[in-house]
Amino acid sequence: MQLHDCHNVEDFRRLAKARLPSPIFNYIDGAADDERTKIRNTSAFDDCDLVPNVLAGVSEIDMGVTVMGKHIAMPLMLSPTALQRLFHWQGERAVAATAQKFGTWFGISSLATVSIEEIGETISSPKMFQLYIHKDKGLNHSMIERCKAAKFDAIALTVDTIVSGNRERCLRSGFTSPPRFTPASVLSYAIHPMWALNYLFREKFALPNLETHVDAGTNVAVSVAEYFNTMLDTSMDWAMAEKVRSDWGGEFCLKGIMSVEDAKRAVDIGATAIMVSNHGGRQLDGSRSPFDQISEIADAVGGKIDIICDGGVRRGSHVLKAIAAGASACSGGRLYLYALAAAGEAGVQRVVGKLRDEIERDMKLMGVRSVPELDASKLRWR
Ligand code: FNR
Ligand code: LAC
Repeated sequence: MQLHDCHNVEDFRRLAKARLPSPIFNYIDGAADDERTKIRNTSAFDDCDLVPNVLAGVSEIDMGVTVMGKHIAMPLMLSPTALQRLFHWQGERAVAATAQKFGTWFGISSLATVSIEEIGETISSPKMFQLYIHKDKGLNHSMIERCKAAKFDAIALTVDTIVSGNRERCLRSGFTSPPRFTPASVLSYAIHPMWALNYLFREKFALPNLETHVDAGTNVAVSVAEYFNTMLDTSMDWAMAEKVRSDWGGEFCLKGIMSVEDAKRAVDIGATAIMVSNHGGRQLDGSRSPFDQISEIADAVGGKIDIICDGGVRRGSHVLKAIAAGASACSGGRLYLYALAAAGEAGVQRVVGKLRDEIERDMKLMGVRSVPELDASKLRWR
């Protein structure tokens, strides 16, 4: 199987599985406990159907939307995800360049393998920084100040990771950052020599937005769960979120809101967006899917805050359904991570291009010429 054989996200997933050492593939693909929520995040889209109108004159259509004050060319954004240089040596650079090419938002994680400054200098399209609130207040302050200096367009504060989810695939594989070659895992690295050579002989792996304050993850190998459970501040509450918003002073998103009650509080503290998200099922297994929550959240806070449906998106039609249910846009992680792992920048460009084409084709088949025409009248629940 090669890049040109990949026509959808699942094809890229298969190619990524073949090309990556298994601990790394399972870190990306895995989720919490029985992974029920991860599965539901995608299958939820099958519980309703799109109802097209025809003869709408769709030779010219506009896929643009405005999210957090920035116009983007399509209603699909690339969510911030950690450790991308472990998945492919081009890492975040490949994802950022693709977002810029397609004119959409992307984000880098607090655990990114490129610096805030480099992204600020090289990427002109809208960029967000995903913030994890650490116990080390100096580190939190430093990340916010660096985002200001680098002219980031938004901060997304992740609120669903107060402790780590129980990711059993990582417990079995012993996955750490940086990777540790243990007797149990060394074979999977040895049988993927391309990955191993790129990892060992290209730029040294580092987490440049954290390493000024912590060794864990860059110089000391830790599991992601250990990192979360020792470094992050479990006392984080609404007052702290509001303080981050005012210290930052720019567009502010809460990532990981699921309830109507919290969506209203996000409006109250002056957030400009929420990512309705369960972290791709990696945190609370048994949580409802983002798509299932969109209608009630949109009924409560639609028009007061941007609503991003994050997680489970694997098809353009999923994006159309989420927007019809009330989302401003969608976002996703694995949809581009499989492609990054499979083929670097060429892979990310191909998958985002495929999804963009699906959104365009499906809008035409739905008889809608602009995104706001996708409303609840276009959706029927089974
Ligand atoms: C993530 N996600 C994530 N979220 C976050 O706030 N900070 C992070 O560092 C990461 N890292 C990360 C790594 C990997 C490998 C994955 C798969 C996910 C969650 C991510 O932003 C997004 O919420 C989910 O990926 C959405 O689900 P889908 O699109 O993967 O189904
Ligand atoms: C994850 C992180 C790092 O989900 O948020 O693995």
